[in-house]
Amino acid sequence: MIMRFFIKTFGCQMNENDSERMGGLLHSLGWEKTDEERKANLIIVNTCAVREKSEDKLFSYLGRLKNYKRKNNTIIGVTGCVAQLEKDKIFERAPHVDFILGPHNYHKINEIIRNILDKREKLVDTQWQKEWPELSEKHVLRESQAIAYVTIMEGCNNFCAYCIVPFTRGREKYRPFWSIIKEVEQLAQQGYKEVQLLGQNVNSYFDVQEGKSFVDLLKEVNKVNGIEWIRFITSHPKNFTKDIAHTMKDLEKVCPQLHLPVQAGSTSVLQRMRRGYTREEYLEKVNYLKKLIPDISLSTDIIVGFPGETREEFEETLSLLKEVEFDNIFSFRYSERPYTLASRMDDNVPYEEKINRLIELQRLQKEIQIKNNKKKIGKIFKVLVTGKSKKDKNMWTGRNIYNQVVNFKGNDLKIGKFVNVLITDIGPYSLRGKQVK
Ligand code: SAH
Ligand code: SF4
Ligand code: F3S
Repeated sequence: MIMRFFIKTFGCQMNENDSERMGGLLHSLGWEKTDEERKANLIIVNTCAVREKSEDKLFSYLGRLKNYKRKNNTIIGVTGCVAQLEKDKIFERAPHVDFILGPHNYHKINEIIRNILDKREKLVDTQWQKEWPELSEKHVLRESQAIAYVTIMEGCNNFCAYCIVPFTRGREKYRPFWSIIKEVEQLAQQGYKEVQLLGQNVNSYFDVQEGKSFVDLLKEVNKVNGIEWIRFITSHPKNFTKDIAHTMKDLEKVCPQLHLPVQAGSTSVLQRMRRGYTREEYLEKVNYLKKLIPDISLSTDIIVGFPGETREEFEETLSLLKEVEFDNIFSFRYSERPYTLASRMDDNVPYEEKINRLIELQRLQKEIQIKNNKKKIGKIFKVLVTGKSKKDKNMWTGRNIYNQVVNFKGNDLKIGKFVNVLITDIGPYSLRGKQVK
C-alpha cells in the first residue's frame, strides 16, 4: 500500500523550507505527497507562534482534522514553533494529535513515524540540538521549480522585546559553509535560477571552522554557474554593514533588493523594543544604500501599537515610511507573546486604536506603492516565471529583479525561464504587462 502525507505550513519561509525538508525525508522512504487531507495517512501541521492569531489558526485547523482521524485513522503530527513551546497545551486542546516535533529535530521524522506506526504511542521531541543536523541538501521536496530556499542559519540571539522566535528556534546556529555551497551547486544542476538564503538573522552568519562570514558566503554563491539571482532574508539593521552593502553592489547576481525590518520609526519605541538602533541610524544605512545602489528596492516590517506607543511615536513611523518609500511592507498589530520582555509591559494601546493605526499606516503605504509602481509603466523587466496566475488562468506570473510580482500575457512559457515583460498597468501590490522579445 502506498503511504501518503500532507503537510500544512503556517509562518515564514524557513517554515516552508522545513516542510520541504521533512517532505523530502518522507519521500526518501517511499511516501508520496498528496494535496488532499482526506487522502493522507499522515498529516503534519508545521506551525508559527509569532503572533497570537497564528496560534489561533493552528487550533481551528487542528479541530478540522478530527474528522479525518475518525474516518481514516490518520496520523497527526504538529511541528514548528508552537510545537516547541506548547506541547502540553496542544495535547490538551487537541487529544487527536499523535506526535510533536520541535524545529531542531526534523532529521528524526522518519524514526518518529516508524515508532508511531509500530506502537501508536504519543511521542514528543523538542530537544535543543547544538549541532547543525546534516540533512539539508540530500532530500528536499521543493514547492517551486524556479526559486529555491536554502536555510543557512537558524535561531536568534537578539531577544527583541516583543518576539517569541528566540524561544522557539533557540540561539543562533550556522550551517557549515561547504554544505550550503553543495546545495546551491545541486540546485543549479537541477535548473534552479534563483536561490533565497534564509535565516532569522542572515547578516550574522559565521562558519567558525572555515572562518567564513556572510559576505564570503555571498561571494561563493555568486560563483555558482547556472544560478542567476541571489536574495537573502532576514537582515537585521543593526548587523547590516557597509561591507554587505558594497558586496551587494559588486556581485552581479545579488539582486538590488533588501528586506530590512525597521519595526517602528521612533527611537524611543525602538529602544523599548530593544532593537539596537535609532531612527537616525536606520535612515543613515538606508540612505547609504540608496546612494550606492540607486535602484535598490526596499521592504520592511512594522509593528503598530507596541506597549506605550503614543500617537506622536506612531506618527514618526508614518514619517519614516514617507521618507524611505518602501516598495513593500508587512505590517502587524502588536500581539503579546509569552516569555517575552514586552509581555511584562502594560499593553496599553486600546485594541481599536491599534486597528486604526494599522489601517492608517496601510493606507499611506498603498499610496506610496502606487506612486512607485506608476514609474514602472512602459518599462521592460526581466521576469523569472514562477507559474500560472491564480486569478486568471490565461496569465502567467513571475518576479522581477526587485522581487515584485509581475502578471503577464505570454505564450509557450515554462516555469523557471526568464522572459522580458513590458509593463502596461500597475496596482499597489503587483505589476501587469505582456511578454516582449
Ligand atoms: N527575524 C526577522 C523577523 C521574524 S518575525 C527579523 O528580525 O526581522 C517577522 C515579523 O513579525 C517581525 O519582523 C515583526 O514585525 C513581526 N512580529 C514579531 N513578533 C511580533 C509580535 N509579538 N506582535 C506583532 N508582530 C510581531
Ligand atoms: Fe525576533 Fe528580533 Fe530575532 Fe527578528 S531579530 S527573530 S524580531 S528577536
Ligand atoms: Fe513563525 Fe517560527 Fe517563522 S514563529 S515566523 S514559523 S520562525
